[in-house]
This record gives sequence, C-alpha cells and structure tokens, in this order.
Amino acid sequence: MAGQLNIHFKGSFSDVKACPVTTLPEYAFIGRSNVGKSSLVNMLSGKTHIAKVSNTPGKTQLINLFEINEQWNIADLPGYGYAKTSRVNRTAWGKMVTNYLLQRENLVLLFVLIDSRLPAQKIDLDFMEFCGKKQIPFSIIYTKSDKSSTNQLKKQIAEIQKELLRHWNALPDQFISSSQNKSGRDEILDYIYGINEEIVRK
Ligand code: GTP
Ligand code: MG
Repeated sequence: MAGQLNIHFKGSFSDVKACPVTTLPEYAFIGRSNVGKSSLVNMLSGKTHIAKVSNTPGKTQLINLFEINEQWNIADLPGYGYAKTSRVNRTAWGKMVTNYLLQRENLVLLFVLIDSRLPAQKIDLDFMEFCGKKQIPFSIIYTKSDKSSTNQLKKQIAEIQKELLRHWNALPDQFISSSQNKSGRDEILDYIYGINEEIVRK
C-alpha cells in the first residue's frame, strides 16, 4: 500500500499558458461539480487538506497543479455543470478547460469522475464524446462508493455502463473509489505508476 506521497502544490492557473512547462507526465481529474475531484486528489496524496474541498459545488475554479514525488503531476480541474455560475463564467470555464485539455503537452491521461449513485448524466456523456472527438484519452472513476451497499453499487455501475455502451463500442479503463474509506487508492496509483513506467521505457 502506497503511504503518503510527497506532494507539492505548484499553483492555481486560469490559463494553460500560465501553467509551468514540464516534461513530467500529468494526470488530470475532471467531472461534474461536487463529484469529488478534489477529495480524490487528497485521498490519493494521503494528505487531507492539500486540495480544497467543499459542500458547495463550484469550489475549484482554476487549474490546480500538484507535483508528486518529483515524478508526475496531478491537475485538479474545476467541475462542469455548475448551474449557478453565470453564462459568462461557463464560457470562461469552457475555454480554460478546453485549452488545457488540447494544449497541455505533458497531459497523459484524463480521469473522468462519475458519481456512482446517479444514472448516467447527459453532461458526462457529452463531455466524454468531446474527449473522443478530440482524441483525449480518458479513464473513468466512479466516486463516492461508500454511499451505497455493495449490491446497490454493482447495480448502479452496471446501469451507467449499459448507457455508456449505447454511445461507445467499448468501455475505457474504470475504477471505483471512495475518498471516505480510501477504496480504489492502490488501484488508481498502480495504474498511474504503470503508465509512468511505460513512458520512461519509451
Ligand atoms: P468542485 O471543485 O466544486 O467542482 O467539486 P469537487 O468535484 O472537487 O468535489 P469535492 O471534492 O469538493 O467534494 C464535494 C463534496 O462531496 C464534499 O462535501 C466532499 O466531502 C464529498 N465527497 C467527495 N468524495 C466523497 C466520497 O468518496 N465519499 C463521500 N461520502 N463523500 C465525498
Ligand atoms: Mg474541486
């Protein structure tokens, strides 16, 4: 089991052009507001307060970069689908995140977080379709697994997968997580380390 990682906050950026240029492989976390992106970053890092978490959706407004063990980066991105944000703000969000996704050269993989308790949401499907079109590789993390029983969780995820398969020929790599009880941590970190090793070997 990976213990606490050596994590350094690199800063918050409103523009990909302002993000520090580095060759370290970067993994970004995205998904609807409140799905648990920042909590997951904390859970993975083993530090409770490195990324700001809130009950109110729309907490993360900028691209937050973290460097892990001087070997790889995490980008905690602002969530989409936050209804209370003004239209201007939503456009700004779109620009900031889209530019990041399309222009960040060291971005290796995007984790799309999906709430394991909810049926597949149009906004998530639309976002994944966008990634497909732009050839942005992504994996899925089903969050907040602690909120359902094992059986419920199985059923809910099967429903989401069924819906995904109406849009895709195959499912991407997937993980189930809980920031509450740390489930999924080892799997997600092993997966990232595996990809990092492949990159080094190339
Ligand atoms: P934005 O930054 O607003 O886009 O949200 P976010 O996706 O970063 O969500 P955040 O991590 O701030 O969490 C939102 C709320 O969900 C907080 O109240 C968290 O405590 C709660 N939460 C996140 N992950 C989990 C989880 O795995 N289990 C449970 N029970 N609650 C969680
Ligand atoms: Mg956040």
